[in-house]
Amino acid sequence: MLKIGIVGCGKIAQVRHAPEYSENPDCQITGFYDFVPENAQKLAAEYGAKAYDSLEALLSSGVDAVSICSANVAHASAAIAALERGIHVLCEKPMAVTPEDVEAMIQAQEKSGKFLMIAQNQRFARAHVEARRLISEGAIGRVLAFHTTFGHPGPEGWTGSRNSWFFDKKRAAFGAMADLGVHKTDLMHYLLGEPIVKVTAQIATLDKKYPDGTPITVDDNAFCLYETASGVRGTMHVSWTFYGQEDNSTRIYGTGGILRIYDDPQYSLILEKPDGEIERFALDQLTSNKEQTSGGRTNTGVIDAFVGCLTSGRAPEIDGREAAKAMRVIFAAEQSAREQRTVTVSHP
Ligand SMILES: NC(=O)c1ccc[n+]([C@@H]2O[C@H](COP(=O)([O-])OP(=O)(O)OC[C@H]3O[C@@H](n4cnc5c(N)ncnc54)[C@H](O)[C@@H]3O)[C@@H](O)[C@H]2O)c1
Repeated sequence: MLKIGIVGCGKIAQVRHAPEYSENPDCQITGFYDFVPENAQKLAAEYGAKAYDSLEALLSSGVDAVSICSANVAHASAAIAALERGIHVLCEKPMAVTPEDVEAMIQAQEKSGKFLMIAQNQRFARAHVEARRLISEGAIGRVLAFHTTFGHPGPEGWTGSRNSWFFDKKRAAFGAMADLGVHKTDLMHYLLGEPIVKVTAQIATLDKKYPDGTPITVDDNAFCLYETASGVRGTMHVSWTFYGQEDNSTRIYGTGGILRIYDDPQYSLILEKPDGEIERFALDQLTSNKEQTSGGRTNTGVIDAFVGCLTSGRAPEIDGREAAKAMRVIFAAEQSAREQRTVTVSHP
């Protein structure tokens, strides 16, 4: 039985990591750590585990693996500390907040010989898995273009606070661009099987404010024009100001048809052919932030995939090197917006 520790005991630990580990028969959560001790104590009591008062104490407790669920800026240091002690790591997105930290995590993983998986859960959604299969089998011919969106009313609906670290550049580093943009950028890499190599971006804070009326210190909207290695062009809009229904949709346009993913309430995947034929697939629907905060939960598959890697010895598909490709695009988008020019991304 694998022993699991969880670092950072906020919302994502509560609604995803802790329940999904506890439902997996191959592991047991043995410890929690949060720099707010009550947060760790609450989950420890709920899951029959121990609350540790330091990261060091949790990492020395005999855990085989840890999930890193703390604020963005704290991901790299905790992941590296765990890997250096020979502990496997599942780290929440965004993997890290600087190019140097992304590289340091990859180096620490390779030196340790342990697994580092990044929790890019969009790769596990069934309509995305099916869409990738259809694209690779040529169901829409040669891919020409795409449009992908992820927007909701903002993380205050998720954490319950208009003062949260999500809005603070020092602790989040990025706003909607990395919070949501990293999901959809990684998703396009997964669906198309190749990385984005050119970015033109506009990143802005259009509306979101702290309770005292001052603007938040990160972006709340990002608009990106992407180009992949083979010349596929596409757009991505991510937003914390969709003050209505969450939109998590993607459309892919090929020479032989169109794939519409998660843009229909009934059919999560729709294949339209040029002759008018339409194939509809009723797979899963993505659970929105609103549903998750009100207790609605479906197993994302992320935790089971990670535990499966540990029990089988098979390396994770979404490891540090793979996740780093999306991070490089995010860093390039920030540069593009700052310098108002197209930025080329090189993936070593
Ligand atoms: N994969 C997804 O779809 C998804 C969804 C939501 C959040 N996330 C990611 O999960 C992470 C946590 O987000 P959340 O929504 O749970 O936020 P949250 O504010 O609800 O929880 C964060 C917790 O981490 C603790 N924490 C912060 N810095 C710490 C540190 N240095 N050491 C120990 N504990 C620390 C806080 O006290 C808090 O309890 C973020 O990186 C976020 O981007 C991923």
